[in-house]
Amino acid sequence: MNTPLYKALIQHARRNSHSFHVPGHHNGDVFFDDAKSIFNPLLTIDVTELAGLDDLHHPTGVIKEAQELVSQLYGSAESFFLVNGTTVGNLAMILSVCEPGDTILVQRNCHKSVFHAVDLAGAEPVYLAPDIDAALHVPTHVPLDTIKEALAAYPDAKGLVLTNPTYYGHSADLTEIISEAHRYGIPVLVDEAHGAHFVLGEPFPVSALKMGADIVVQSAHKTLPAMTMGSYLHLNSSCRIDRDRVAEYLTRLQSSSPSYPIMASLDIARAYVEHIIEEQKLSDILQRIQSLKQTFDSLTNAEAVKPADPRIITDPLKLTIRSKRGHSGYTLQNILERVNIFTELADENQVLLVLPLGGKRRINVETIKSIDEEIEKMPPDQMFVSAEWGAQPVTVLPYQKKVLQTFKKEYVDFDEAAGRLNADDIIPYPPGIPMIMAGERMTKESVQKLSRLISMKTHVQGNMKIKEKQLLVYIEEEKS
Ligand SMILES: Cc1ncc(COP(=O)(O)O)c(C=O)c1O
Repeated sequence: MNTPLYKALIQHARRNSHSFHVPGHHNGDVFFDDAKSIFNPLLTIDVTELAGLDDLHHPTGVIKEAQELVSQLYGSAESFFLVNGTTVGNLAMILSVCEPGDTILVQRNCHKSVFHAVDLAGAEPVYLAPDIDAALHVPTHVPLDTIKEALAAYPDAKGLVLTNPTYYGHSADLTEIISEAHRYGIPVLVDEAHGAHFVLGEPFPVSALKMGADIVVQSAHKTLPAMTMGSYLHLNSSCRIDRDRVAEYLTRLQSSSPSYPIMASLDIARAYVEHIIEEQKLSDILQRIQSLKQTFDSLTNAEAVKPADPRIITDPLKLTIRSKRGHSGYTLQNILERVNIFTELADENQVLLVLPLGGKRRINVETIKSIDEEIEKMPPDQMFVSAEWGAQPVTVLPYQKKVLQTFKKEYVDFDEAAGRLNADDIIPYPPGIPMIMAGERMTKESVQKLSRLISMKTHVQGNMKIKEKQLLVYIEEEKS
């Protein structure tokens, strides 16, 4: 296992040194005994920038080496370790390309961190509506025609931000889209949070890095064996973005005490991918995944669902299951939890499972089969409603952000909200895609959908009164 950072940490831990430095657990010595057995092995490598352990914010030693190994594997010009997830990568890449007032083209079904970045940059977003898949009723990718329309209307945009694959593992061919943006000299920034394993090649979809995107961020922790918050940011060799700006923003946005266990796990995750390739482990892993899928498929009362759009390639690590007896995804998720199966997310129609890239634990086939019985016990509650993003493929907010800031706000009941300007990001979580954003106008349909989600007890991030069916809206007639 070629893991320079992890190795240096282990060597340091073996010295059994006297710690007169942070963190305050002093190599695990200062810790409640009750919790020690769980935390202790990790605390021995939870150190700080000691001699030989390099510095994430100015890497010249083992962190630099570990990052270079990532870059070699992914074929990037340069790769960075992130200790605050793809969230911080999205923030840094967007802040690196735009200044206040600049226009940026953004796929509307991006993760909230993308929109937060646009806000922090003070940029003006142009939203690009995604297609909705007819089988899964979830948003997928932005069609090429929409991209062309947006580029023609906003040729001075500072960037095009896309998400590929989606949370559901739906991946599109971005090659034409990327070259179209590049024709305008516009860099393409891709949130590939769910695609760190695409580097393994077929049958996984192609990474945006290979398709020519300028900058790509991946949550190693989502599909590779890395600790939560561990992500990679890659710059492509022909990157149209200033490398030093990206590095500077990462330094500003990430902790000055980055977690060594997280960084070490990023080193190990890369080695794990290399191990799969070198030892030709992929076919065994895929076989296991296939047999797991077959078991779910053999259920009488539930089925695996695939996208209707034949252009979409679904990541083999994702499995979407739907009840055949008219249950919402939320109810199906509850049913699965009763038999001790915990899933990644549920929506109105289905649940999403993230399958493991290897590992040893096997699930008993009987456990999966028992779902059939549990489904029969539950009354149906599914309403089968399709997602939608409105009629216009390319939209801007009714008011610029700086104008919005001048409006007063008030709470209104859901039944009075249609037609009003929403003043709060409303985000079902997961997947963390804002359903209605601050500055967007509420429609009858969006309020109805929100009302449905609340009554289904979906976890929705937003203002504190949302559960009381009240929404925060701007008063367009009144300046604060
Ligand atoms: C598409 C997408 N982008 C970004 C993120 C944020 O990633 P992280 O949790 O690594 O910060 C998520 C999280 O779920 C996501 O689904």
